[in-house]
Amino acid sequence: MLIRACTVEDVPALECSLPSHGTGVHASFVALQAAGEVGYLAAWHGGPDERAAVALGSVLIRWAGDREADVRAALPEVPAISNLGVAPQFRGRGVGTALVRAAEEVIVAAGRDQALMGAADDNSRARHLYRRLGYQDSGVRYSSSYDFPDASGVLQRIHEQGAILVRQLSGTPDFTPEVQRVQPPNRSRNPR
Ligand SMILES: CC(C)(COP(=O)(O)OP(=O)(O)OC[C@H]1O[C@@H](n2cnc3c(N)ncnc32)[C@H](O)[C@@H]1OP(=O)(O)O)[C@@H](O)C(=O)NCCC(=O)NCCS
Repeated sequence: MLIRACTVEDVPALECSLPSHGTGVHASFVALQAAGEVGYLAAWHGGPDERAAVALGSVLIRWAGDREADVRAALPEVPAISNLGVAPQFRGRGVGTALVRAAEEVIVAAGRDQALMGAADDNSRARHLYRRLGYQDSGVRYSSSYDFPDASGVLQRIHEQGAILVRQLSGTPDFTPEVQRVQPPNRSRNPR
């Protein structure tokens, strides 16, 4: 498994494994990465010819913090690891863990020492995973609404509430993936 920053050339393979059903999230995250606002990593499985590689999952680093303004105000300067997703057929094999650890490594390389993740109240398996990865309840809660495609690809309005979990990233993460580093954020553009 190789974990590296996504490029615009990766978008078709990401759409194939993790279909965005017309929302264009992969292309928009790659564009935001070029603007220095996010890091967008994906895990790949494939042979030496990377063009034949299969995308296993992806994760976003929001350098300015959580997407909700009240969470950013409560936890300033804390990059958010979000939009973690692994293709259903590859779940339960450590890909999600590896993606979070790779995101943490990129965050540390950018000179930051904390990360946050939002755990929805109704996603106990993800919350269990984040706690196992060392994320602890910050006491801050979030509430957000967004459109997300259902199993048939039809966009549904999701209203989500949950806890913000934080991890202190000191020392070397216990998982050391082969990560092609993303460009550090443009600090003048993104003070957080
Ligand atoms: C949550 C998710 C990213 C985990 O990825 P993964 O590759 O299965 O994770 P790992 O194999 O590293 O770890 C598995 C852990 O994730 C948890 N998990 C959460 N949802 C899971 C699922 N659908 N299948 C398997 N494990 C899941 C399990 O509790 C498991 O913990 P355990 O190993 O202690 O039993 C993945 O299940 C997923 O994409 N789910 C749908 C999207 C989502 O819920 N994202 C998180 C909120 S943004």
